[in-house]
Amino acid sequence: MKYMGSKRHMLENGLGEILRSQLPHAKRFIDPFAGSGGVINYVAVERKFKKPIIAGDLQKYSVVLARAVIGRTAKVDVERIKKSWIELAKKEVEKSTLYIKSELLDKDYSGDIKKQVMMSRKLCESPSKTGPIWNAYGGHYFSPKQAIVFDYLLKNIPNSSPNKDICLAALIIAASRCAAAPGHTAQPFQPTKGAGKFIKISWGIDVFKSCEAALKELAPMHAQKKGEAHVMDAEKLIPKLKEGDLVFIDPPYSGVQYSRFYHVLETIARGKCGEVSGVGRYPANNERPQSKFSNTSQSLKALDDLLVALAKRRVMVIFTFPKGKASNGLSGDKVAEYSQKYFKLSKRRTHRRVISGKFSTLGGNNKKLQKNSKVKKSRIDSEELVLLLKPKGK
Ligand SMILES: C[S@@+](CC[C@H](N)C(=O)[O-])C[C@H]1O[C@@H](n2cnc3c(N)ncnc32)[C@H](O)[C@@H]1O
Repeated sequence: MKYMGSKRHMLENGLGEILRSQLPHAKRFIDPFAGSGGVINYVAVERKFKKPIIAGDLQKYSVVLARAVIGRTAKVDVERIKKSWIELAKKEVEKSTLYIKSELLDKDYSGDIKKQVMMSRKLCESPSKTGPIWNAYGGHYFSPKQAIVFDYLLKNIPNSSPNKDICLAALIIAASRCAAAPGHTAQPFQPTKGAGKFIKISWGIDVFKSCEAALKELAPMHAQKKGEAHVMDAEKLIPKLKEGDLVFIDPPYSGVQYSRFYHVLETIARGKCGEVSGVGRYPANNERPQSKFSNTSQSLKALDDLLVALAKRRVMVIFTFPKGKASNGLSGDKVAEYSQKYFKLSKRRTHRRVISGKFSTLGGNNKKLQKNSKVKKSRIDSEELVLLLKPKGK
């Protein structure tokens, strides 16, 4: 899925090596800042880790993605789920007046994206009780037809796990792929000369097909041992850890809250949202989880508290963070300096890596860094530090 801050590249360039060296000694694997679940999936599916995996995140969509994989130990039958979910939603939506009106609108304005967007926004102002997507995001991130399809798919999600989690995760992945927005959902594309074509491409994606594709990708992905995923602040999850656990720590580096960038996915995961406002169609602040790590006045204390709590549990830690100064005021060098206070830092090349690549700025990387680097919109050349932290006295 489109996710900024994903560790995919790093897993193939050093992070995977550290994980592979430590997993055989771990009693459990814990990812308290799970995000898109990239690392969870690597450990559960690619490495086939045989012990429990626990995921946590402040945001529900992240937990749904993780639970869809670590919440089960066998693959699922796509055709059966398709019949009881996608086919049912298809039958229902085709009878909906809003769906019929959306199809007509697409035909009437197909040559003029500006007009199509304006008329779509107007149409999506008509109230719908089916789900939250039509009124909140229709005509902005999604075409009216896509929006009403998302709402019917949400309405028909199975009631019980694991199918509930798998279908919801497929819907989240499809939403991230269909959204007419650049990599995240802080702001949708506007129908300007330059960006209009991107709206056309995104709005042209068939949500049912996208959902089915995501379902097929998820179906064979499962854990070897059933794990757990919790919507929980890392502050609350870490006291539950035990000696022998291997903990992957990848906290935010942006001074802007993640919840500003992923509210569309969060709305799908929750199945509801209140009033939205602004160009980004943001739900109210109290519906968007706030992290101390994305608050420049709290981030250093949050880092120190996190390290103290981890050291107290005597767990092994793999910590990753951008090497240079990030927009939340922290840096890899600061992480290394503070880690040394509470942990033994291995100097071995394989235990202390700097990985180069293009990393997302999540809309807020350090300005000096951006100036000195080849800025390519939201992704810039950068270096990430990966540290292996061992409990002191071990
Ligand atoms: C850098 S991203 C993690 C990316 C992830 N490793 C991946 O591969 O996709 C940081 C994540 O931490 C979450 N987060 C922020 N503050 C948190 C906190 N205090 N406790 C738990 N999760 C938090 C954010 O919601 C975000 O998903």
